Amino acid sequence: MNMLQRLVRIAADPSGILTYGLRRLPGISLETRVALDLYDRPAYAYGIYHAARQAKALGIRELSLVEFGVARGAGLLAMERIAADVHRETGVEFRIFGFDMGEGLPSPRDYRDLPYIYRGGFYRMDKAALLPHLRRGELVLGDVRDTVPPFVRAGRLPPIGFISFDLDYYSSTVDALAILSGGDALYLPRAFCYFDDVIFEVGLHCDYTGELLAIREFNEREPRKKLALPNGFWLTRIRAAEWNHQLYVCHRFDHPLYNAFITPEAEHTVASVARQKRTWRRPARGPLHPNTASVRLSNNGNSAVGRSPARNGSAGTAPKPQERRHRAGTMR
Ligand SMILES: C[S@@+](CC[C@H](N)C(=O)[O-])C[C@H]1O[C@@H](n2cnc3c(N)ncnc32)[C@H](O)[C@@H]1O
Repeated sequence: MNMLQRLVRIAADPSGILTYGLRRLPGISLETRVALDLYDRPAYAYGIYHAARQAKALGIRELSLVEFGVARGAGLLAMERIAADVHRETGVEFRIFGFDMGEGLPSPRDYRDLPYIYRGGFYRMDKAALLPHLRRGELVLGDVRDTVPPFVRAGRLPPIGFISFDLDYYSSTVDALAILSGGDALYLPRAFCYFDDVIFEVGLHCDYTGELLAIREFNEREPRKKLALPNGFWLTRIRAAEWNHQLYVCHRFDHPLYNAFITPEAEHTVASVARQKRTWRRPARGPLHPNTASVRLSNNGNSAVGRSPARNGSAGTAPKPQERRHRAGTMR
């Protein structure tokens, strides 16, 4: 992105600068940090926080969090930091698992792995550099084709509340999705599943290759479990962001707790419903897709110009990590 493009981007989304400032401000509650995308991985923050809230409402005290694709560990370390904050606030305990080959991407198997953007050997892990920084994350090294089935079979883990899929390939994602094949006790009834590689301008991701194909096939094969985007999710956020289209929920309709009532009564008063309808109404003008500039009403009813920030809701001027990766031709 050249200087002019950056300036226009900042002008189109000044909230990025505000967010940058707010991130440094002490004393902001966890709920507000999650609501305003103040974490460097806002999708992780949202998923982990709301998984913990769901767990608490269901009387579950401990959750498992999983990241597929660790590379240099930026995501896993972020997961640890967010989990620590969420634990302080909610009391929910966490076990954290990071799955990785350890040697970077394997070779793509066929066109569905998008060999026009990925190559074997990208994103190699530096285990010696990462291990001293890990506090509670546990690495599960090896091809997910071999490591996931025994992990699920072992079964004696706290329910999984949040999973990040960042393996880039269709074939690896299919193998990783086997993590959802255990008994209901191994999951929240609605576990949050973040898919990193579904939006990327150069990648031209579509339903017929990559992670999106793996998701579609999962849904076709599983009548009583579905991976689904919360409908209109980005409209419910104060700042629309790219990750709003990457955070799926794995619904397990036969889970014994799926129908347990967990919504606070206050959300159902006539006044509350009317307020929500006013607050989250459709953008006054501008396109609906969050990747393009849009104007919509924020929580307090003021109009806000929003453009999808760089992935993970960073300050908005930084290139997407994928762009960074590919531009630099290096690993994360
Ligand atoms: C893009 S990187 C992950 C980046 C990381 N999530 C982050 O945010 O920093 C993708 C990783 O997926 C791993 N990977 C891809 N296919 C795999 C497989 N079949 N089994 C295990 N790891 C795999 C690679 O080793 C690579 O480290």
